[in-house]
Amino acid sequence: NPTPVQTRLLSADDTGIAAAAALLAAGDLVAIPTETVYGLAGDARNGTAVARIFEAKGRPSFNPLIVHVADAEMARAYADWTDTAQRLADAFWPGPLTLVLPLRAGSGLSALVTAGHGSVALRVPAHPVAGALLRSFGGPLAAPSANPSGRISPTSAAHVANGLGGRIAAILDGGACDVGVESTIVGLTGAPTLLRPGGLPSEAIEEVIGTRLTRRHGDAAITAPGQMSSHYAPNAQIRLNAGSARPGETLLGFGATEGAALNLSPSGDLTEAAANLFEYLHRLDRDARAIAVAPVPDRGLGRAINDRLRRAAAPRGI
Ligand code: TXA
Ligand code: MG
Repeated sequence: NPTPVQTRLLSADDTGIAAAAALLAAGDLVAIPTETVYGLAGDARNGTAVARIFEAKGRPSFNPLIVHVADAEMARAYADWTDTAQRLADAFWPGPLTLVLPLRAGSGLSALVTAGHGSVALRVPAHPVAGALLRSFGGPLAAPSANPSGRISPTSAAHVANGLGGRIAAILDGGACDVGVESTIVGLTGAPTLLRPGGLPSEAIEEVIGTRLTRRHGDAAITAPGQMSSHYAPNAQIRLNAGSARPGETLLGFGATEGAALNLSPSGDLTEAAANLFEYLHRLDRDARAIAVAPVPDRGLGRAINDRLRRAAAPRGI
């Protein structure tokens, strides 16, 4: 276990951002706000900093991490760029889209970031505080979600403090995350492939590239090892597609659900539901022993919501 440290809470003003950049330059870890979820950031060129990310999260294995950059120009320094990458970056960066591309030779990234793969995952986050920090820091930041491995992802500074307080140098408080689910990951090392549904609906991506995305299949665990089925596990048992709560269950609603303790979106808006998903799971997980979740339509952002709910409901330890 890492030695406990005092975790500083930094406000998202110039002083806080400068302090965060200085800690990162010294190889320390800072949790940062993005539009999707909070990320646990470290200098992606510094092997010790990256190793500390795995240690702080208690990640069981060295899964590759997403590298966050200020803009597409910076991304091109780390990857062999393609026309499709350019089109997607033009359309969706900054934003909740991660591109997996061939790793550029001599990139200077720590081999731990890519877990020794010949590819790198890159993203330009849309949160203004993340953007300001990336420009101030002036380098690439490796950042998985800022939660202990296998737990619910954090969408507020308080979630991060509850999960990682005492294990990281600082938390930069940028408020609640707008999107609320992780970025969509598209593999571009071969035919464009949907590696993880996320905050950008796959339909929007397919419209820009003009073809359907290849879906992940059986052996996808090898290319996206973070996709373990028991990810996002709350302490409570979870039952999906519930019409109503059974005795002992607390109901998480969507749309016109009756008798729900919390409702992801009473009006049935998938964007609002995504933004509320992890916050509501965190809240219910505090007292509920069993959570029943109303059906969420499997289109647009509903795909990412259902993906996270299936993982939360999956048997543990798989
Ligand atoms: O929204 C997000 O993407 C958040 C925020 C903080 O930016 N980050 C995030 O990172 O979700 P993380 O580490 O929890 O998820 C990284 C995912 C994992 O499933 C990992 O396997 C995949 O990206 N990944 C990273 N590099 C890869 C690569 N070279 N090839 C295939 N998959 C990769
Ligand atoms: Mg995660």
